[in-house]
Amino acid sequence: MNQSDTYVVGNWKMNLGPKAGHDLLQELKAHASNSTSTAVWVAPPATSISSAVQATAGTAVAVGAQNVHWESQGAFTGELSAPMLAESGCSFAIVGHSERRHIFGETDQLITKRALGALANSAISIIFCIGETLEQRESGQTTELLRTQLEQLFQELSPADYSRTIIAYEPVWAIGTGRVAGLTEIQQAHADIISFWGEKVTSTGCPPILYGGSVNPDNFTEIISIPEVAGALVGGASLSVEKFGELIAIAAEASK
Ligand code: PGA
Repeated sequence: MNQSDTYVVGNWKMNLGPKAGHDLLQELKAHASNSTSTAVWVAPPATSISSAVQATAGTAVAVGAQNVHWESQGAFTGELSAPMLAESGCSFAIVGHSERRHIFGETDQLITKRALGALANSAISIIFCIGETLEQRESGQTTELLRTQLEQLFQELSPADYSRTIIAYEPVWAIGTGRVAGLTEIQQAHADIISFWGEKVTSTGCPPILYGGSVNPDNFTEIISIPEVAGALVGGASLSVEKFGELIAIAAEASK
């Protein structure tokens, strides 16, 4: 998958069953076809993947999963593997979302294992999510925390993985709260990530970095104007065709 100028990625979380997801995507098609430089991706819950793939057939909208296991098969109850996702029509998987980290206790080590395992399948790209809690930000730990979350991944990625890697910076305190991070905070975090990448990988520039956390049509124009921001990972607003469509239009305008 070639890296695009801008990305608008919808994470439906545990919302929209097969029919509701299909209906939403049917309506969304009109918005998604407007731009070639903006990648539009959606990550439905697992049971809605196949209907989403059907609904987006023949369009540029990519369908992905909200998590992925590192092994290709085996005794791992409740998990899905990269080959299974690829066979179902997925082209990407989100890993390390803050809800996986904080509600389900997934660690940096486990998340990195998921990411590297998924990338072993050439059909799958990853969106690797990182971000600090409010407590970590307020105690001045953000930069170090982001570094820790990325360290092992950046160390172990191989050149074949670079073009299938996307980072998402999502401050935990901004997710689903309506409280969006300030432009300076976003810019600084993205610049930090770019600088960590530069320390580990010198052969190529940093992969795209998306911002996530209460993105909506009212705040996205400013956020996407930050040069280090390549797009958005969107939760709540991706469940509304109107809002998600507006985000796509804003991203398309920004990538002109
Ligand atoms: P939100 O979610 O847009 O509802 O804040 C973002 C995310 O969890 O990726």
